[in-house]
Amino acid sequence: MDAVTEIKRRIEPAEYIGRSVKLQKAGRNFRGLCPFHTEKTPSFYVFTDRGSWRCFGSCGEGGDIFSFVQKRENVDFRESLRILAEEAGVELSARAAEQRTRAERLSAIVSASVDFYEQQLAGERGGEARAYLTETRGLNAETVQRFRLGWAPDEWRLLRDYLLGRGYSDEDALAAGVLHESDSGGAPYDRFRGRVTIPIADDRGVYVGLGGRILGDGEPKYLNSPQSEIFDKGRILYALDVAGEQARESGTVVVVEGYLDVIGPWQAGFRNLVATMGTSLTERHAARLTRFASRVVLAMDPDSAGMAAAERAGSLLLDFGSPEAMGAAQRSAEAISADVDLDLRVAPLPAGQDPDDLTREDPEAWRAAIENAAPFARFLLERLIAGSRVDSPLETGRIVDRLRPVLLAVRNPVERSAHIQGIARRLGIAERAIADRLRVQARGPQPRPEAEVVAARAPAEEALLATLLHNPGLRADLRHLPPDLFLDALDREIVQRWRHDELDALAKDDDDPVAARLARLRARREPALTAADARERASDLIRHIVRERLIQRQSAVTEELAEAERELGAARVTEVAHRAWLGALPSEETLELAQIAIEELELGLSIHRREERDAS
Ligand code: UTP
Ligand code: MN
Repeated sequence: MDAVTEIKRRIEPAEYIGRSVKLQKAGRNFRGLCPFHTEKTPSFYVFTDRGSWRCFGSCGEGGDIFSFVQKRENVDFRESLRILAEEAGVELSARAAEQRTRAERLSAIVSASVDFYEQQLAGERGGEARAYLTETRGLNAETVQRFRLGWAPDEWRLLRDYLLGRGYSDEDALAAGVLHESDSGGAPYDRFRGRVTIPIADDRGVYVGLGGRILGDGEPKYLNSPQSEIFDKGRILYALDVAGEQARESGTVVVVEGYLDVIGPWQAGFRNLVATMGTSLTERHAARLTRFASRVVLAMDPDSAGMAAAERAGSLLLDFGSPEAMGAAQRSAEAISADVDLDLRVAPLPAGQDPDDLTREDPEAWRAAIENAAPFARFLLERLIAGSRVDSPLETGRIVDRLRPVLLAVRNPVERSAHIQGIARRLGIAERAIADRLRVQARGPQPRPEAEVVAARAPAEEALLATLLHNPGLRADLRHLPPDLFLDALDREIVQRWRHDELDALAKDDDDPVAARLARLRARREPALTAADARERASDLIRHIVRERLIQRQSAVTEELAEAERELGAARVTEVAHRAWLGALPSEETLELAQIAIEELELGLSIHRREERDAS
C-alpha cells in the first residue's frame, strides 16, 4: 500500500476536517459552513465513506484530505503529503503492512456473533427460545437453520467475553454494533439480551447486522443493530441473500415489512420475499432489487400504516406543497417508475392478515394477491381519489391537478390513457377534460423532450454559450456554472468572464482568439426568448452536456458510478450532477451520488485536458 492510501486509511476525514471546520452530522455524512467562502447556510459536506469533501454552495470546491490541506494551508501536494504523513504517523518511505480492511473486520465480528447466538439457541440456555420459535411461531428446524436464527441469553457480557476470547477488540465490536457503550463508563455490554436473534446479511451473504425479537410481549418488540459503517438500512434489504435466487427465476421480488413476514412464507414455499425492516422503501432499495427482478411487488399489511408505507415508497410523490416539491415529485415518480425499468406494484392483503399468516393459511389467496397487484401509479391514483371529496367542479379540478405528476410519470401512453379512463369514470367527468388539463399544465414547467435538445443543430456547448450571451438575465441563476463544463479553453475563458460580467473589457482585437470566438458567438442567430424560456433552454442544454460527458468519460469510469447508472439510469445521475453543479443542493439521499458524479466528471475532464496538452 502506498503512503497516500495508508494516510487516507488512518485519517478520518470528518474528524480531521472537523478540527478546523465546525461539522454536524447529516445522515451518514457531515455538514458545516464552507471554510473557503463566506456563507450563512452550511453547504460544505464531508463524505465519510468516500473520504472526500465538497462545497455545494457558491465556491463548488471539493476533493480529498490532501486537497483540503493544500487549500487551507495554501501549499502544494508534496507539502500536504508531508503534513498529513506526520499527522497519521506514516513514514513516507516505509510500506505499511497489508491489513484487512476495516469493513471486513467488522463483518467478521457480526459473523462471529451469529455463530455464537446460534450455538446458544441449540444449547442448554436456549430451551425457552426454541419453544417460542417452534411452538409459538410454527417454525421448523430447517427454517431456523436456513435463517441462522439464534438466542441471546439475558446476561450482560456473554457475547463480549466470547468476542474478546477470539481476539476482537471492544472498539471494533462497538463499531460493528453488537456491543453497547456503558453509560457509567464501565466495559461495553451486549446489545442483544433476552432476544431471538435474526442475522442480517447483504445480497452477497456478508453479515452486516442483527435484529433481536423479544419473546412474547414487551417493548421494544424488535431491537436492531444501529446504522453503522457496514449496516445501512437505506440500502440493505433483509433476506435478499436468501430470496435472490427465486426472485431471479420468477422475475418477481416481493417486499414485505417484517423479518417474520419473510421467514414464515419461506417455510410455506414462497422464497422471493425480502423485508425493509420497518423503514420505507428507498430508491436505493428499489434500484438494488431491479438487479434481481424487474417486477417489484409491495405486499403491505392492509392497515393504514402499511398502506402509508407503500405510499411513502413512492417517496416524495405525495408532497404537493410547493412548486419545488412538485418538481421533486415528478422526478421521483419518473425515477421510481420509468427510469430504472421497474415494474412497481402494490398488493393490498386481506384485512387482518400479514404475509406470515396468509401464506400459511391461504396460499392461494397470497398467490392471487401477488399476481393481481396493481401498478404503483394506479394504487397512488386510487388513494388520492379515495382521500378526496368530489362534490364540486372546482374540487374535481384540484384533484386532477394533484394526480397530474403521477399521470405524467407514466410514460407509456397506453397505460396512461387507461389511467385517465379510470379516473374519468371515478370522478364522473369526460376523459378529454383530464387530458386537456394535463396538456395545458404540461406545457408549463415540463422539461422539453430530449429529442428537441438533441435536434439543436450546433453542438450543445456552443448553443449554451450563445444562449448565455444573448440572455444576460441568466447570470443571476447561472453564476455558479462551472467553466469546466466546457471542453474548449476559449469557451471556458468566455464563461469565466461572463460569470463576472467582464466580457466588455475584452479587447476588440481580432488577433485575440477569445475575442474572435466571442464575436462569432454573438453573431449567431438566436431566438428571442422570455426569461423563463431562456432559463429552461439553458437547463436543457446543461443537462444534455453533462449527460454527454458522463457517457464519454468511459476511460475514467469508476465502479461506483457505473453501478449508480445501472441502478438509477443515466438520466437520474445526470440530473443529480446537473443540480449539484448549479449549486442547488441535491437531496441528502443523492448527495453522495452527486459527489461521485462530480469527481468522475472532473477526472474525465482532467484526462481530456492532459490529452489535449500532450497532443499540442
Ligand atoms: P411488525 O411489528 O409488523 O413485525 O414490524 P413482524 O415482523 O410482523 O413481527 P411479529 O410477527 O410481530 O414478530 C415490522 C418490522 O419493523 C421492524 C422490524 O424489522 C419488524 O420486522 N420493527 C418493528 C422494529 O425494528 N422495531 C420494533 O419495535 C418493531
Ligand atoms: Mn407479524
